[in-house]
Amino acid sequence: MRRYWIPIAPVSQLDENPVRKIRMLGEDLVLYRNTSGGLGLIGDRCLHRLVDLQYGIPDERGLRCPYHGWLFGETGKCLERPMEAKPEADIGRSLKGYPVEELGGLVFAYMGPLPAPALPRWDLFVWPNAIRQIAVQVIDCNWLQCQENTGDPTHSAWAHGHMFNYVLNRKGETDRMQDKVHTIHTRKAVGVGIKEIYASQTKHGFRKGIKYSTELGAEKDETKEHSTVIFPFYTQTGKTGAPRSEYQIRVPMDDTHTYHICYQVYAAPEGMQAPEQTSIPYYTPPTIDADGNPILDYVLAQDAVTWKAQGPIADRSSELLGRTDIPIVVLRRQLDEQITRVEQGKAPMNTWAESPPIIYGKGSPPDLSQPLLRHTFRGLYHLGFGNDDADRYGPLFETVKELHREIEAFQLGRAAAQDVKAAALAEAGEH
Ligand code: FES
Ligand SMILES: [Fe+2]
Repeated sequence: MRRYWIPIAPVSQLDENPVRKIRMLGEDLVLYRNTSGGLGLIGDRCLHRLVDLQYGIPDERGLRCPYHGWLFGETGKCLERPMEAKPEADIGRSLKGYPVEELGGLVFAYMGPLPAPALPRWDLFVWPNAIRQIAVQVIDCNWLQCQENTGDPTHSAWAHGHMFNYVLNRKGETDRMQDKVHTIHTRKAVGVGIKEIYASQTKHGFRKGIKYSTELGAEKDETKEHSTVIFPFYTQTGKTGAPRSEYQIRVPMDDTHTYHICYQVYAAPEGMQAPEQTSIPYYTPPTIDADGNPILDYVLAQDAVTWKAQGPIADRSSELLGRTDIPIVVLRRQLDEQITRVEQGKAPMNTWAESPPIIYGKGSPPDLSQPLLRHTFRGLYHLGFGNDDADRYGPLFETVKELHREIEAFQLGRAAAQDVKAAALAEAGEH
């Protein structure tokens, strides 16, 4: 984990408050922006009498402790001790200090051996002509449980299909299910007619999906590829450059807490302009309602509750794996192989001394020539699916719906859009 740049906060959080406590890889740190605009990530306890620097005061050269004003630079070095006889004397001790960089509205930290590799320019962070928002959450379990979810293409049928159905029934919101443009219908279908689950390693991670057979009850004989996995902690849903795509990023705050980021990108097609965006907003999708009960009627909440329900650290030695877990085996092998590489003194995958201008997680640039709704993630977002996911809490929800309406009109013409909706509904099926 220490060989990778780790996203630790949305930049827009620092706009709200330039000093922020961070827990990452079991360390307590403070992220700050100094008054010259530079970022620092340093140990959280002042060297003087251990005051928590989350209450610190940004200075031109670093962060000052609020108690007696000791000043710490971005390397963690104490630069000044006002009121001491020799304020600038080298005290021979430093706080921890880690390199930080900004990309795509996120702050990334590198907490490993120097020299640091380049911060990789993964495609969704730099894809042009798009608007973005960032959902962040803390999930109370080990990060690998969250990441293993990406090696689990069939959980959709239950966690986002049957369980969603059950939750809406219990809430008495059966009206919502009548709408054919509802996630439960497509998700339940994921579990019907499965012939085979496949998974294999790729240049940047692994791919996986499900083969369906009509003989087993599927609507079509077909192969459905699932989200792309980028080692070590990214999953990409949706196609780069599509009206909706997303990285889900799961990084270990410590052994039993995960920082979870949904990095959501809504791109306009060539020839159309996405709205201006001066900064990328963030939000925290709620997990508990006003009565203190868990909120379970959106996709990310359903995922999070099942990850946490595996326990703080799931005991893999007592699992009983089946064919649905084939991609999880690939994920675990890949992790093992990369750990071995590091133990042998080699660089693990997805590290670059200099980053290419854009790195495609899927291995090559996207083909965007297909009809619009065939390559949207959870297509028909603006017609309903957006309500079924964390997006509904996002500050850009209405803007994105409007963008999707405009894309539809731009690419297809309004009349044709109706046909595409009908075709997409038919494809989603009456499941
Ligand atoms: S405790 Fe930080 S300056 Fe005194
Ligand atoms: Fe899920």
